[in-house]
Amino acid sequence: MRMKLKDLLRGTLSDSELDYLIQSYDLVGDMAITIIPPELSHRQRLIGEAILATNKRIKVVAKRDGLHHGEFRTIPLKIVAGEQRKETLHVEFGVRLLVNPEQVYFSVRSGSERKRVADLVLPGEDVLVMFSGVAPYPLMVNRFSRAASIVGIESNPLAHGYALRNLKLNRAEDRVSVFCGDVAEVLPRLEGSYHRIIMPLPTASLEYLPLALNSLRSGGTIHLYYFRPTGSVNNSLLAIDNACRTAGRKVAHSTETTCGHTSPGTSRSCFDCLIE
Ligand SMILES: C[S@@+](CC[C@H](N)C(=O)[O-])C[C@H]1O[C@@H](n2cnc3c(N)ncnc32)[C@H](O)[C@@H]1O
Repeated sequence: MRMKLKDLLRGTLSDSELDYLIQSYDLVGDMAITIIPPELSHRQRLIGEAILATNKRIKVVAKRDGLHHGEFRTIPLKIVAGEQRKETLHVEFGVRLLVNPEQVYFSVRSGSERKRVADLVLPGEDVLVMFSGVAPYPLMVNRFSRAASIVGIESNPLAHGYALRNLKLNRAEDRVSVFCGDVAEVLPRLEGSYHRIIMPLPTASLEYLPLALNSLRSGGTIHLYYFRPTGSVNNSLLAIDNACRTAGRKVAHSTETTCGHTSPGTSRSCFDCLIE
């Protein structure tokens, strides 16, 4: 049986230090990413080594050294124990994803949400993933649907580089294409139209909704991610409804799925909207 982190560190850390300890971590491939509060900074190597001891699969332990920021939504990481590298191979529902979680945005916590959306894709659909990162959504849709084509657009050149490598790793180049650049510039150039558009940029997806609507076929579906203050669901839907009306479109049906919390009082929601 695996020992709990707190039990491993009992006797090494004082009782008051143990009170600050955050026991959870995200496991991205063989890399554990944890939060070490400032009160325990001087103990970070010991904590990292204890995390290594909790699971043989873990080869690198990194701590979050700041917040997600900027257009690319990246987060600084600092290695506290194990091998000195930040690249890892993560496997999600059989999809292989090479990733450096400091250079590109990638959240392991969204794996089942990506699978949920991929399972909704119908045979023959043309699917667009705006803000596609290292291509987890395009590759999940590729694996779990019979979509006709899948397109991803991502502005971070490093994430785009990983996406190209991941297409190869998953032998998906025939059906999935990825483009590097600002979606507002790349999408109009592609001149495509899509049955389904996935918009996983909760900080700004509403801004890009008019652009998405231009490329969405009649009767198509949008999956729009949004940070919603708890209790304000109708406001979010109202904003989506207004954007559709302005574009001369109409939301025929919508459902909301809560897929994670960001801070107390805010949840990450996906609005699945069928648009006439
Ligand atoms: C929240 S991350 C999601 C990444 C990926 N879809 C995933 O699920 O791991 C949003 C991504 O959008 C990219 N991005 C931000 N603004 C963009 C824009 N205007 N055009 C294209 N990509 C953009 C960021 O670089 C980042 O990789």
